[in-house]
Order: sequence, then structure tokens, then C-alpha cells
Amino acid sequence: MNRKVVLSGIQPTGNLHLGRYFGAIENWVHLQKDFDCVYCVVNYHAITMPYNPVKLQENVWELVYNLLACGVNHESLFIQSKIPEHTELCWILSCMCSYGELSRMTQFKDKTDQVKEKNKDAFVSCGLFTYPVLQAADILMYRADYVPVGKDQDQHLELTRNIAQRFNAVVGKDYFVAPEALYTETPKILSTADPSKKMSASAGEKHNIDLFAPVDTIRKQIRSAVTDTGDRSDTMSAGVENLFQLLKACKQTVIYNELLAEYNNQTLSYAVLKDHVADAVIQLVQPIQDRKKEIIANKKAVKDMIKSSSMNIRERAIATLNEVRSLTGLN
Ligand code: TRP
Repeated sequence: MNRKVVLSGIQPTGNLHLGRYFGAIENWVHLQKDFDCVYCVVNYHAITMPYNPVKLQENVWELVYNLLACGVNHESLFIQSKIPEHTELCWILSCMCSYGELSRMTQFKDKTDQVKEKNKDAFVSCGLFTYPVLQAADILMYRADYVPVGKDQDQHLELTRNIAQRFNAVVGKDYFVAPEALYTETPKILSTADPSKKMSASAGEKHNIDLFAPVDTIRKQIRSAVTDTGDRSDTMSAGVENLFQLLKACKQTVIYNELLAEYNNQTLSYAVLKDHVADAVIQLVQPIQDRKKEIIANKKAVKDMIKSSSMNIRERAIATLNEVRSLTGLN
């Protein structure tokens, strides 16, 4: 039986922190058991915002090493720019997507503000405007059935379905599959320094715990996590809840239940809670960090492997483009 296709993309910007790991990557790794997974480091998307080419190149490979260390199979992983067919499909699809549809994308508005906030003289690129069409091309290229993404990508997925439909109508054939979002219950991890915020790369170093940080740094960050003022009301503070979430995300259910009982009896010491959280996180990241060391020691071989998996995945893209060119009269 043919397995259903799962496709997702990740931007080569920012570091890989616990929020991103539990929110996406861990799920990617699990999905590999049951689906034909295609995962893409989206460097064409990364250049839609002001960027530095040298840094971009470094970030792309760093992310590849990190994803492999986390357990993403190399056969499933490719770098978007190694498959230039994505840009060709993007162009064809952009002619099947209206200016009005793209103008309604809220991410475009948010990112436009970000560009301007950072530097008022910076320009907003056309690429940023057509970004969702490139995303549609990524998805439709491999006839993805499911796209594991966060709620923030809903609008882009809806657009992808509309583009697929319009394409099918124009060519008079049910060619593209309309993809569905795959929502998995993933723990939402907050910043330990400020639990009113999500854990994120863009808010600054102290607002995220890097999977690849030295374990002492991780322990220190967790030890200094904001909890509550000691004046406990009926509801658990966001900071304490976040620490419990982390324990749960690290699958320490026995300790989780014990400590939660202590919390409810008001006998829990936050220092003890933090130590358990730090132990759990370190236990999780240690093997990942060890794998990363092995990968770094064999960079050349790993690069060759990814280039070759990108070539294999490209075969699928080439097949799609051949059909698309003939269906659209561009043969
Ligand atoms: N836009 C996605 C994000 O910001 C990244 C992305 C690009 C993507 N292409 C994709 C996600 C295809 C899913 C499928 O997270």
C-alpha cells in the first residue's frame, strides 16, 4: 500500500530550541514511522527578508546537522534550493493566484512590519509577497496529503488548497491533491525567563533553551526560571505550569505526578522541581548532542548524503514538473 505523503518546511533562521523541538521536530521524527515524509529546509523562503548570504549558508547546514541529530532521516530531508523546480512551479502557480488573495495574508503584513521595525530604509521584497505561493509549490510538488504545521500557517494552507483547485480547473484535470493540515497536540513551551511569552529565538537568548547549549548552561537557565512570588493563589502560575509542561514533554510522567501531588499539598520546593526539569531536559538532549558531535566529525560525508537525498527527491519534482508543463501548455 502506498503510504500517505507528509511534507513540511522549516526556515533556516534562529536556533533550535526546546519550543521548536517539542512543537515541530519531535513530531516530524515520529511521523516518519507511518508516512512517506518529505522535509525541506526552506532557504528560498529565507531570502524573502533582508539577509546575509554567508550567514544563510552557515545556518542552512547547521540546521541540517541539527535535524539529523534529532532523528530526521537523511532520505527524507532536502535543501529547497537544491531543487530549483520549486521556483518554476512557484511561477506557474503564481499565475493562478490572485493579487487580492495574497494581499489578505496576515503573515505578509506581520513580516512587513518586522522588516520596517528593524530598519526603516529596508525594502519589502516581492518575494515576501509571493512567499505563500512558493509554500504552495513545496506542498503540491510532492502531492502532500498532510502538512504538519502550527495554527499560524492555516491561511497559507487554505491558499494552497485554493491554488490546487484553480490549477485543476484551468487544466481540466484533478491533478493536484488538496492537502490537509496535520495538527498534533504538541506542548506549548514558554520562555523560562518570561513565561508571559512563547519560547522563541527572536525574543533573544534568554528566552529560549537551545537544544545544543552546554548542559551546564541549560541547567542554569532552568534554575533561574521565573516561578511565582510564593504567594500562591488557586491557579498555578504560568512559570510553574511551564516547568511541569517541560517535565511532561520529556515524558517524565512518574516524577510529574509525584511533584504535582506535592504542589497540591503545598510541600513542593521549586528548587527541587527545577532540578528534576533540568535532569529531564539534559537526559533528552544528551544523546542528541552526542549525535551532533558525530555528525560534525563527519561533515563531508553528511553533506554528500544530503546532496544525494536532495537529488533523489528532485527526481520526484522533475516528474511533477514534466506533467505540469504539459498540462499547462508549456511543454
Ligand atoms: N511558512 C512556513 C513557516 O514559516 C515554512 C514553510 C515553507 C513550510 N514551505 C513550507 C511549511 C511547506 C509547511 C510546508 O513555518
